[in-house]
Amino acid sequence: MDHFNYHRGELCAEDVPLTRIAAQVGTPVYVYSAATLTRHFGLFRQALAWTDHLVCFAVKSNSNLAVLKLLGDLGAGMDVVSGGEYARARAAGVPGDRIVFSGVGKTVAEMRMAIEGGIRQVNLESEPEMRALSALAASMGAVVPVAVRVNPDVDARTHEKIATGKSENKFGIPIARAAEVYAEAAALPGLQVVGIDVHIGSQLTDLEPFRAAYAKVADLTRTLRADGHAISRLDLGGGLGIPYRRDNNAPPLPIEYGQVIRETVGDLGCEIEIEPGRNIVGNAGVLLSQVIYVKQGEGRDFLIVDAAMNDLARPAMYGAHHDIVPVAEPAVGAPVRPFDVVGPVCESGDTFQKGAELPQMAAGDLIAFRSAGAYGAVMASEYNSRPLVPEVLVSGDHFAVIRARPTFEEMLARDSIPEWL
Ligand code: LLP
Repeated sequence: MDHFNYHRGELCAEDVPLTRIAAQVGTPVYVYSAATLTRHFGLFRQALAWTDHLVCFAVKSNSNLAVLKLLGDLGAGMDVVSGGEYARARAAGVPGDRIVFSGVGKTVAEMRMAIEGGIRQVNLESEPEMRALSALAASMGAVVPVAVRVNPDVDARTHEKIATGKSENKFGIPIARAAEVYAEAAALPGLQVVGIDVHIGSQLTDLEPFRAAYAKVADLTRTLRADGHAISRLDLGGGLGIPYRRDNNAPPLPIEYGQVIRETVGDLGCEIEIEPGRNIVGNAGVLLSQVIYVKQGEGRDFLIVDAAMNDLARPAMYGAHHDIVPVAEPAVGAPVRPFDVVGPVCESGDTFQKGAELPQMAAGDLIAFRSAGAYGAVMASEYNSRPLVPEVLVSGDHFAVIRARPTFEEMLARDSIPEWL
């Protein structure tokens, strides 16, 4: 459930008509609903209410400071994967002891930043990284809580570019070698082994891969405890999918996911951390765009809109589907016809959807790409020198610009021409 619905013939974000946002901020623009974010975060908390837990929002899915502040104030922890994300989480007011640091290639500079600023736990992805963190922490006189990310060799049954739990993927250390790696971690200075970390992929629409991975983590917990390690936390990653098509079977709910966690690792007495991103913010956002032209093509009509692949990369990158809806509510029974919805960027890949069934559309009409709150704005670029897409947060009947659209001057000011040219 989200808070983007038609009221009095217009698509609204909570109580704000999207036409109002388009008029004041212009298009394209991402629009997020605070109520939806709050609701989705609450569902994960509820799903883990049976145990000690921390829901660490995956900052990579949407790193706007206002979004992080909203979630942080609700008690969320943060899962960060770079120095930049760490800085964002801290700037949004999230204390270091609620931040976990993941990512395959943390640099020494990034790890230093986390140690200096405070960190709940570093999720180690390889032995060289483990040794680098140990040397750094020891040199700083610090002891860093760590978990080792294990690769359980489980097929997440999702898009290959976002599956991370198979042995051929670059993530984590093979679960079969875990005992050896934990033995080294325990012997190294500057590290305190506290848990196990796993993340098998994103946009999972089936609970069985989670069940398989978490069952392996449960076995490993018992093995490591028998070896004398104090495993008190399990970081079970993110990945629960969302419905991208309203006409499709919905993926499992957070409460059902929480049940799988309980059934697989619930008897171990560990504090549970999870790192959902998409499920919290995906359906809390839309990308609002305006039709520039309706163009008659050969055997098809194109809807040329002012959003493009640089603003929302997922369709071009993963062949992802985002439902496209008109902002003006179509009359009941109004005829629809197919449009290829495309952006103005000079690549054929700049196609959002072929054959989208829409009512009669004209230049100037507004449309919304649904389910665009996660991996939308964060993956945007200025390709074709299109200024970075702005973001707006709605709460009830008011809204605020939470990232302004840069002017051309601001965009150009980041470049400089050397004096010798
Ligand atoms: N934890 C780790 C270690 C991750 O790598 C990820 C996502 C998450 C948590 C959050 O997963 P989520 O709950 O959002 O599924 N750009 C792609 C998605 C990449 C996901 C990468 N890792 C997309 O647009 O679909």
